[in-house]
Amino acid sequence: MYRHGQQEIDKVTEVIASGSWFRYYGTDRHGKTVTQLEKQLADFTGVGHVLATNSGTGALICSLAALGIGPGDEVIVPGYTFIASAAAVLAVGAVPVIVEIDETLTIDPKSIEAAISPRTRAVMPVHMLGYPSDMDTLMAIARKHDIKVVEDAAQAVGGEYKGRKLGAIGDMGCFSLQWHKIISTGEGGCVLTDDQTSYERAVIMHDDAHCFRAIDQGVPAFPGMNLRMSEVAGALGCAQINRLPSLIRDLRDTRRRMVETLGDIAPFRIAPSSDAAGIAGTNITLQAPDRETAQRFAGKTGMGSVLNTKATNWHIYYHWDYILEKRSANGKGWPWKFEGWESPVNYHKNMCPNTLDILQRSFNIGVNPEADTESIEKMTETITLGVREVG
Ligand SMILES: Cc1ncc(COP(=O)(O)O)c(C=O)c1O
Repeated sequence: MYRHGQQEIDKVTEVIASGSWFRYYGTDRHGKTVTQLEKQLADFTGVGHVLATNSGTGALICSLAALGIGPGDEVIVPGYTFIASAAAVLAVGAVPVIVEIDETLTIDPKSIEAAISPRTRAVMPVHMLGYPSDMDTLMAIARKHDIKVVEDAAQAVGGEYKGRKLGAIGDMGCFSLQWHKIISTGEGGCVLTDDQTSYERAVIMHDDAHCFRAIDQGVPAFPGMNLRMSEVAGALGCAQINRLPSLIRDLRDTRRRMVETLGDIAPFRIAPSSDAAGIAGTNITLQAPDRETAQRFAGKTGMGSVLNTKATNWHIYYHWDYILEKRSANGKGWPWKFEGWESPVNYHKNMCPNTLDILQRSFNIGVNPEADTESIEKMTETITLGVREVG
């Protein structure tokens, strides 16, 4: 979360004073604020339907359930993403298949075709750090193999691919509005889709008592979970989304000035992108040509590569022990095993060597949209010196 102020205070105060803090009933203004946020997000992204949820994980669970994905099914996820992408697949009883990323830090389209099996129901591109996945290629692969695309745009709210908003391109898309995301409701998320039935099924999944509410139901109800957003969180969201266009503009502008100030960083480079103009702007990733140069650069600058940054290593499949060891709450091996069936999917720490190599050679630099010229120069100086010493 980059910016907040009086707008958030005023909107939250309005909801608290109303005495109606719950999405579905309360005073005569019930649900007004979350509904307003959904409309603002639909207008911003251009999708037909938005459903606000309690979290990005909740949004992923609702999206997978909306598509009817469950036991015996597989969903392809990249080896570089927050563990929630894979955990959400397990939460609906399906099996995550972990594949390589490429130098864009997003899922490698080549590794998807190799991972498709008769059980594959979906692929989950993750727009990590606001970097767009190669959506044209991914959509073509998905259509060819008749599988769905669930975009995890948790870290990419406001980012684009060829002029279309990330999260609004696949069959389903998910945002996270958690504290560390581009805009925030503290905890929160949302589902995006153009498909009416998928939307209605996502609504059912996010509200276990949905069928008792006076809401039109076009599709038969099934057991859901409580993954709803509260009106107080909705109030934060309404204020935050107003800030999004200027925030993305400032992030991109600061990022561009940082890249220009860095200048020629050979033999390093800025990570390539499937659409550089669409990057949300929260990060710059430097890539060393090989591990040895990366290690020397890390030694000179004190910067950790993505692979060696402990604070964020839950984003790398290598550290997902409970998944690699196929552990779940029930202790019975489900969903990898049930009723005499056992999934052929297996994991091990070195299963995605390209991903580990790329992350070993990649260095992320966060972009501060408020950075002035002086602070940009100070920050880029360390990098430029490091590059010169190892180059
Ligand atoms: C790529 C990615 N996917 C999913 C999530 C889950 O979102 P949340 O924390 O809102 O459940 C996050 C962030 O936390 C994320 O970074």
